[in-house]
Amino acid sequence: MYIATSRTTCARALLLSIRNTIPMAASPLFSHLKPPSSSSPLPHRIHGPKPFPQVLSSSSSYSGRSPFSSLASVSSSKPHKRIKPPVAALHEIGGVKIAKDDVVRESDPTNNVPDNIFSKIGLQLHRRDNHPLGILKNAIYDYFDASYSSKFVKFDDLCPIVSVQQNFDEVLVPTDHISRSYNDTYYVNTDTVLRCHTSAHQAELLREGHSYFLVTGDVYRRDSIDSTHCPVFHQMEGVRVFAPDEWKGSGTDAASYAAMDLKKCLEGLARHLFAVEMRWVDTYFPFTNPSFELEIYFQEKWMEVLGCGVTEQEILDRNGRKDCVAWAFGLGLERLAMVLFDIPDIRPFWSTDQRFTSQFSEGKLGVKFKQFSKFPPCYKDISFWISDSITENNLCEVVRGIAGDLVEEVKLIDNFTNKKGMTSHCYRIAFRSMERSLTDEEINEMQVVEDL
Ligand code: DAH
Repeated sequence: MYIATSRTTCARALLLSIRNTIPMAASPLFSHLKPPSSSSPLPHRIHGPKPFPQVLSSSSSYSGRSPFSSLASVSSSKPHKRIKPPVAALHEIGGVKIAKDDVVRESDPTNNVPDNIFSKIGLQLHRRDNHPLGILKNAIYDYFDASYSSKFVKFDDLCPIVSVQQNFDEVLVPTDHISRSYNDTYYVNTDTVLRCHTSAHQAELLREGHSYFLVTGDVYRRDSIDSTHCPVFHQMEGVRVFAPDEWKGSGTDAASYAAMDLKKCLEGLARHLFAVEMRWVDTYFPFTNPSFELEIYFQEKWMEVLGCGVTEQEILDRNGRKDCVAWAFGLGLERLAMVLFDIPDIRPFWSTDQRFTSQFSEGKLGVKFKQFSKFPPCYKDISFWISDSITENNLCEVVRGIAGDLVEEVKLIDNFTNKKGMTSHCYRIAFRSMERSLTDEEINEMQVVEDL
């Protein structure tokens, strides 16, 4: 595969990007589990295993029959240079040993977990008390402890490798749902995935008899790359189960009682974390009915911060809570932390640069992040004819596999259909290091020519 090579790419591409920029779908965090939307500019499709893009042409400038025909294709006789930090061969989470060879198997078509994703398992940023995600988790714990006399049991060390049954079936995600596709989820094999949400643990904890619980963990989704999306992020799930005597006598039915209690609880949480305006929006999740999203007014926009609802009765019935009613919520920790600490981008959360880490300390929620000097980005454009097997997620996965955390954004900047009906897409890739200035040469050398 060729990834095109020039920063000076081309006046034409720049012009196109100004005149004809196609905005990417800013997919809200939880929309992943909603039914497919036909309005998405790059619709997700359900694929077979390991669908990677086939790049047909690439360009460092544009001319010729197609605006994307290659003037200078990259021929590389040099050995490929990949920026790949060493990946630990073993992680241990909650006493479970996870060997790399069991999770990353390149030759297995039912496995689509790359090295760079395995390297994130076990980092557990949410368990570091000095990290923004750990500070936020602890602040949420404080709220629940104070409001519910410490009744909520907390789990933050559950293994992120779960069965398809836990991740999807047990929370009633339909069998043809988009989120089950290899395009959207990391599969270890046909029956096992890296959890794509902390809801994956709901059913087992209900079966174990818990009625109040919070589950915090890293979750994994194949996704586009930009300032708010990362294939690994962190969620917190909360569940509360009510026995019949709790709502009987309240004058309302069980579901309304649970919905009212849920809203009261989460409005209190939002007030505990920030002083902002908020509103409820009705939505859909497979595991709750009714379902809601809480939005806060931030930087002159409504921003969704969590999804929640009254647990589907079937989940309770199947897990030994027939006569009960329950509510559940799931929130994205990065999104909240970005608001609370004024962190403009999702990548620094993974940074070990002490100009980032030293700004945060245990228990200090209100600290505002001070941007340290940003090194300049290096842009590359890539264009290719699209086909059914090419999705944006696949492209992002390939780019991430080559450049790791140096990729800041992958953005569709042009779209062209020729008379034969063939469509080509042009993506602009922004590379940026948090630690140093990247040179054009080093990125060019990193461009890998690979047969996919
Ligand atoms: N699992 C959902 C997601 O990742 C978030 C969520 C929504 C969790 C509603 C819940 C819930 O427990 O009730 O998008």
